[in-house]
Amino acid sequence: MNQKTEELKKIKDEILTLTKSPLYTYRIKNKYFPVIGEGSHDAHIMFVGEAPGENEAKTAKPFCGRSGKLLDLLLDSIGMDRKSVYVTNVVKDRPEGNRDPLPEEIALYGVFLERQIEILQPKIIATLGRHSMKYIFEKYGLGTVLESVSKIHGREFVGKTSYGLVNVVALYHPAVALYNGSMKSVLMEDFKILRKYK
Ligand code: URA
Repeated sequence: MNQKTEELKKIKDEILTLTKSPLYTYRIKNKYFPVIGEGSHDAHIMFVGEAPGENEAKTAKPFCGRSGKLLDLLLDSIGMDRKSVYVTNVVKDRPEGNRDPLPEEIALYGVFLERQIEILQPKIIATLGRHSMKYIFEKYGLGTVLESVSKIHGREFVGKTSYGLVNVVALYHPAVALYNGSMKSVLMEDFKILRKYK
């Protein structure tokens, strides 16, 4: 096992036994899995969603439901596929009934996300939705430019990490296009920014 894979496995093991998480009992009771992340360990692009939904918690795979199908379509529109990127979430366990994650859940699981970012060192972090946007922007020194997704989507920023600079782009969560079809073209336009990071 190479070093990246080993370090990522350690994160998985720690989350599997994260009994202090408020979402742990819910996971066990429903025979759900935590969703750690999936994709290339040499990816230039890391997508960060919000939290697993039911399909994801049943399969341990990020974005494998309806939002995931749209993510695949958006990647396809720029000539990419899942295997060449890395996809994860801020919160690794499913919140009950798909409610928004609580600030303390984001804080607890966000530490694991930061470790994943340090291990994979992507060239660009693409946040999907407001929760991951807020976490990443605040964590990497972009708190001052943080606004609603509708104001800053599709624009590149440069954040500061422990290993150096990282590009960050806020994208709408693909789920918005499931409820509002016209958002699909906005997402497709924003995804074009990722082409140069292939
Ligand atoms: N929505 C998310 O934010 N993440 C997933 O993994 C699935 C749906």
